[in-house]
Amino acid sequence: MTQDVSKPFLYVVVCAAGVAQDVGKLVAAALEDGWEVGVIATPLALRFFDTDDVEARTGHPIRSAWRAPGDPRPFPDPDAVIVAPATFNTVNKWAAGISDTLALGTLCEAYGLGVPIAVLPCVSEALAAHPAYRASLERLGGMGVRFGDPYAGETDEDGGRPEFRWERALDLLRSH
Ligand SMILES: Cc1cc2nc3c(=O)[nH]c(=O)nc-3n(C[C@H](O)[C@H](O)[C@H](O)COP(=O)(O)O)c2cc1C
Repeated sequence: MTQDVSKPFLYVVVCAAGVAQDVGKLVAAALEDGWEVGVIATPLALRFFDTDDVEARTGHPIRSAWRAPGDPRPFPDPDAVIVAPATFNTVNKWAAGISDTLALGTLCEAYGLGVPIAVLPCVSEALAAHPAYRASLERLGGMGVRFGDPYAGETDEDGGRPEFRWERALDLLRSH
């Protein structure tokens, strides 16, 4: 593993939603944009995408668990953070300040670091109607977190999904 210290370091936090299978598209676009990329997955998200492919693209091991005390920090502090896809579960826990996974701890801390944060939610309309979710979006928005458009992620009868606009996350960072 080598790190190009001349490049800004982007954390991509991946949650356990079906569209995560294509997260390699976001990683490729971010690398193309000049970021050094480190991926942090929720424990469940590790089953949703090709981790070997993402590690090969980024040149960094995917992080999901906390490091052991005394171990060196695998990634430098972030210059920016993207959460994509963001689940109902992670958005609500993050807004509530819960830090029981490395992904959530990273997100809770990112606000205090003052770095730009862009989020692409993937949440069904039924879940998005829950008042807790609306309150979470409002709270995180008030913290300066930038959100992409709502995306429900449901498959149609042919098993296809509407396009998930991964590149929108990079647009949101650029607009900071
Ligand atoms: C195949 C599959 C697809 C899922 N897609 C979504 C989704 O699009 N959005 C969502 O909020 N949860 C989705 N879930 C449920 C989440 O995986 C579940 O809430 C999980 O606890 C989220 O964990 P995380 O937020 O730590 O990644 C899906 C679950 C499965 C099994």
